[in-house]
Amino acid sequence: MPATLRALRADITTLAVDVIVNAANSSLLGGGGVDGAIHRAAGPELIHECRLLGGCKTGDAKLTKGYRLQAKYIVHTVGPVWRGGEHGEADLLASCYRRSLEVAASKDARSLAFPSISTGIYGYPVELAAQVAVRTVRGHLTQCPALTEVVFCCFSPGDLAVYERAIGQQAS
Ligand code: AR6
Repeated sequence: MPATLRALRADITTLAVDVIVNAANSSLLGGGGVDGAIHRAAGPELIHECRLLGGCKTGDAKLTKGYRLQAKYIVHTVGPVWRGGEHGEADLLASCYRRSLEVAASKDARSLAFPSISTGIYGYPVELAAQVAVRTVRGHLTQCPALTEVVFCCFSPGDLAVYERAIGQQAS
């Protein structure tokens, strides 16, 4: 059975899933938005582990423990900055979702939550990002046999509606 996809409005730091994904920057040393919230909730041990990772390229993903979170692990990925859509943004964003699933699968994650990567400070239009997110995750589920649930964790009611629509439109 492939994993269930659903959208939820929540603070991602409160979710009881095996893995949460962080929308980080290439330094992996923290920032604002969901990155700041995850570092605050996980506690200061997280930054110590992040310092050992040597940063992360845009479109790639790296794993840490979850520390004080309920989640066992955090996958830190770096989304593209939106520069109008003609600079490989969609491919890079798809790569974030694909690499995050690969890293989570290496720990046999059963449940995973994504934030809406790149659609805050990095400016990616949420309607376009949601299409990429849902399509990419659906396309890679067969490579994550342990996974039973993927949550798209939205911070606003507007984003929730966008992700619910994307999940409904692309339902197979
Ligand atoms: N739970 C779930 N979603 C959240 C939370 C939360 N606690 N807080 C914010 N969001 P952003 P980006 C939503 O800006 O665009 C950081 O400084 C937010 O409403 O966090 O990928 C990094 O260090 C939006 O829908 O990430 C980078 O420098 C989504 O998370 C840069 O921001 C992503 O917004 C990355 O920018």
